[in-house]
Amino acid sequence: MTKNHIHPVFDKILTREDRERLLNQRAKVIWFTGLSGAGKSTLAAALEKELYSRGFLCKLLDGDNIRTGINNNLGFTDEDRKENIRRIAEVCKLFLNCGVITIAAFISPTNEIRKLARSIIGEEDFIEIFVNPPLQVCEQRDTKGLYKKARKGEIKNFTGISAPFEAPENPDLVIDTSMVGVEESLRMVMEVLEKDIQQK
Ligand code: ADX
Repeated sequence: MTKNHIHPVFDKILTREDRERLLNQRAKVIWFTGLSGAGKSTLAAALEKELYSRGFLCKLLDGDNIRTGINNNLGFTDEDRKENIRRIAEVCKLFLNCGVITIAAFISPTNEIRKLARSIIGEEDFIEIFVNPPLQVCEQRDTKGLYKKARKGEIKNFTGISAPFEAPENPDLVIDTSMVGVEESLRMVMEVLEKDIQQK
């Protein structure tokens, strides 16, 4: 094919801003990081519901769901976790470009991994929330029975037990869910978010 047969259509392509105007909102990615059992999914789901009830369009991406779908070929080695987060960040970017407020709840255990997500999504659009109850509390909750198995050595590379978790260096918000309930946590998150998601 020669160049003569190429017809650029840039003027017909809708932009993120067009979509944001349609939805009367501005898109962001709200990235929850923290140990298994920290309360990321609970908070993320509550946030989605709250935003929805206020008229915002959101999409929640959550560890266990993504790992049974798009990332069902990935495990928990450093390399697989990195690939897990890389793909998730790319998916977040697609939603972001559709004007959708995207809520991600993944352990995302290292600074390197979170930096990768931030760089794919873009500094301005990445809001990082560290859900940070003490490890002992997560282990006591053990909602999925995984800590018990990890202690027995039945699960390898388990974050907090046999694999590292590095605290984020500069999160937008830290929530200790052993001290603060869901409602109060939500209020804190909304305070950080509110200005960023309102259409100008
Ligand atoms: S991440 O480290 O790659 O960000 P992700 O958030 O997708 O992890 O998945 C974490 C969930 O997988 C946990 O909540 C838990 O239910 C499950 N899981 C299974 N094996 C492990 C493991 N070795 N370490 C941490 N979580 C695990």
